[in-house]
Amino acid sequence: MTPPYSGHRNRMAVLTLAILLLAPSVLGHVAVWHKGMYCLNGTIPGVDDPDNNAPVSPLFNLSREDWWMHHVNKCDEFPPDDGDFLELPAGGSFVTELAVNRAFTSLSYNGTRTGTFIDGQEHLGLGETDEGKSAEGCITEMNIHTMNESMAAGTAFAISYNSDIKEVTPENLVVFTVLYHTPWHRVAEYKVPDLPECPSGGCHCAWGWVANGCGMPNMYMQPLRCKVVGQTGSKEVAPGKPPVWCEDDPSRCVSGPKQMVFWHQLEGNNVDVSGFDLSGRARSPAYNNKMGFSEGAQTDIFLDNDSATPTFITPGPSSTPPGFSEPAFTSGPGSNGSEPTFTSGPGANGVRDISGFLSLVTTVVSCATLQLSCIYLYLI
Ligand SMILES: *[C@@H]1O[C@H](CO)[C@@H](O)[C@H](O)[C@H]1NC(C)=O
Ligand SMILES: *[C@@H]1O[C@H](CO)[C@@H](O)[C@H](O)[C@H]1NC(C)=O
Ligand SMILES: *[C@@H]1O[C@H](CO)[C@@H](O)[C@H](O)[C@H]1NC(C)=O
Ligand SMILES: *[C@@H]1O[C@H](CO)[C@@H](O)[C@H](O)[C@H]1NC(C)=O
Ligand SMILES: *[C@@H]1O[C@H](CO)[C@@H](O)[C@H](O)[C@H]1NC(C)=O
Ligand SMILES: *[C@@H]1O[C@H](CO)[C@@H](O)[C@H](O)[C@H]1NC(C)=O
Repeated sequence: MTPPYSGHRNRMAVLTLAILLLAPSVLGHVAVWHKGMYCLNGTIPGVDDPDNNAPVSPLFNLSREDWWMHHVNKCDEFPPDDGDFLELPAGGSFVTELAVNRAFTSLSYNGTRTGTFIDGQEHLGLGETDEGKSAEGCITEMNIHTMNESMAAGTAFAISYNSDIKEVTPENLVVFTVLYHTPWHRVAEYKVPDLPECPSGGCHCAWGWVANGCGMPNMYMQPLRCKVVGQTGSKEVAPGKPPVWCEDDPSRCVSGPKQMVFWHQLEGNNVDVSGFDLSGRARSPAYNNKMGFSEGAQTDIFLDNDSATPTFITPGPSSTPPGFSEPAFTSGPGSNGSEPTFTSGPGANGVRDISGFLSLVTTVVSCATLQLSCIYLYLI
């Protein structure tokens, strides 16, 4: 009888793993990673690529058809599995991962290659020392397009109450949350306003980022399937208007629901800026106060009271990425106690990152079952 793992098989495994370890591209840029995303496995039919970086490529000078929902590499043609949604706890928050490659998220390699930063590393002095910086002071060690955390431009999620991605338009895709000073760390927690219930097939969301200098003036737009969970809101989301540069004149800021920033493309732009910002840098229309976006949940995006019917949607299994605490339930005010009210999203009081513990468990489990996992873990 042949033993299950012969010496030859082990040598092959080590070789294969050595190649795999070199494979993840640290080049490229940033995407948001979650089970609800499009093209999680990559953009080759039938292939599940643990080193996928298809969604991270920035969008610049493209036709409307190509930049919209990251169609340029067909990311929008690879929807998540049925039942996988980015879950948005109404009035709470949700946790996602920002990374330059799927390899450095909890959605690949059992999370063993994750780090504090978007490239799987710790970077203890990043933004404070000269670590990884160019002569101009931009961080180039990873493509994060900033000098330090406080200069990071901000990222956002928008929502469209349409289950069919083809029905999503710039007007019905409204920015509902903004996280200033990102992308920076891998783990990013976004707040959610009292969004109303999605249609039965769920909503569509898009993640956006426009960097502030330190590289090409491009933009990011990435599709996800999402749905509102918990105690949903009583007001419908109103159509969005294009945001306007207003750093120098807050009275020009667009109040109310805003569209995502579509900038520097061949067609379909909704924003145009020129000149310099108050710090003397070329204006860049990012998801921050310079474009009239407040930090956190966007609470001014709704139609009248009672334009939607509130209900309770039980969060599903994809509410948090692996390694994070499950959403908390408590009885809300006015509740008779029989029905839980969703009051706080995962990690609302500080994200509990137990990936280190998980990888220890993984080590023990896989060492007991599979020798090559031990070799793999020793190598990293
Ligand atoms: C944008 O694309 C057009 C058409 O392909 C090209 O003519 C133009 O030079 C490009 N602009 C930039 C800034 O790359
Ligand atoms: C991704 O690949 C896994 C197999 O590793 C498969 O189970 C899953 O259905 C794939 N997901 C999508 C959205 O193609
Ligand atoms: C992930 O963990 C499972 C069991 O916990 C193991 O079978 C699998 O080989 C691991 N995958 C990687 C890429 O380490
Ligand atoms: C970040 O960089 C900017 C530009 O160099 C600088 O003005 C600012 O003081 C820095 N912030 C911190 C916290 O180091
Ligand atoms: C909507 O409801 C809120 C809270 O109940 C109330 O304060 C507000 O006046 C209402 N607005 C309108 C236009 O009725
Ligand atoms: C508690 O509230 C739920 C839903 O709001 C309702 O179905 C149930 O009958 C209520 N129970 C009592 C004892 O009032």
